[in-house]
Amino acid sequence: MKILSIANQKGGVGKTTSTVNLGAALASMGQRVCLVDLDSQRNLSRTVQVEGHGNRSIADLIYNHVSGIGYDPCQYLLHNEKEKLDYIQASTMLATAPSILATSDNSNMVLSEILHAPEFGQYDYILIDCRPALDLLTVNALAASDAVIVPVEPESYAVDGLADLFSTIERTQKMVNPELRVNGILITRADSRRTLTRQMIDDLREAFGAQVYKTVIPYLADAAKAANDQHSAVNMKGSRLGGLYLELAKEVVAR
Ligand SMILES: Nc1ncnc2c1ncn2[C@@H]1O[C@H](COP(=O)(O)OP(=O)(O)OP(=O)(O)O)[C@@H](O)[C@H]1O
Ligand SMILES: [Mg+2]
Repeated sequence: MKILSIANQKGGVGKTTSTVNLGAALASMGQRVCLVDLDSQRNLSRTVQVEGHGNRSIADLIYNHVSGIGYDPCQYLLHNEKEKLDYIQASTMLATAPSILATSDNSNMVLSEILHAPEFGQYDYILIDCRPALDLLTVNALAASDAVIVPVEPESYAVDGLADLFSTIERTQKMVNPELRVNGILITRADSRRTLTRQMIDDLREAFGAQVYKTVIPYLADAAKAANDQHSAVNMKGSRLGGLYLELAKEVVAR
């Protein structure tokens, strides 16, 4: 079982889109996948949620775990048959999770303890969709993870923003999770007709070398359309975006 966090504190860079589509791509390759929505905006939950699944969420799991209330993790695992994957949804209550986590003696490790329960051993990959912040919730995601995937938009200041994330990753490695790796940096929402975008892609490859995935996700209308229609682009017939996330999934597995 591998846990991957999809993280960048910058908003709107494609974290949720990448989590859903990478998850669906891995699932279509036969991997057993569980997605975790760690953002109270609930964007991932809205895309993959299946009607009638109730409101049990990762926020309740965190609350129960911190409060020492017994729970059955399986009751939080929901299944999406179309995408062939499981997911744990978010709720708006997740906004209060950092203050709940802070009351724990082991506040950085709560999510790690939750996800390392034997019930999660059935998965090959658990993908955590982080919220756009470097708070205790994101640190919990990093502490629980084997590796991080960093989606980045090739815009001015994108590289500057990465410095904060990388220092949080280093701090997490030093303090709680020495095994944490960067699986890769994913250039996404790239409009390669623009000279500035091409320049930024070159800069990212120069600064981060082989850490940057070969697969580049362009700016494509399928992203918003698929999310709006509540499915991945991977399971959208003939979608170029879906095909590119399948390429990315191969790179992720190979690393
Ligand atoms: N490759 C793409 N091409 C075009 N639009 C995209 C692409 N990827 C994502 N988008 C769109 O960009 C917006 C932001 O994407 P997404 O929600 O995945 O980012 P995010 O990093 O999860 O945002 P947040 O920080 O708010 O959680 C969404 O409207 C999404 O549909
Ligand atoms: Mg998001």
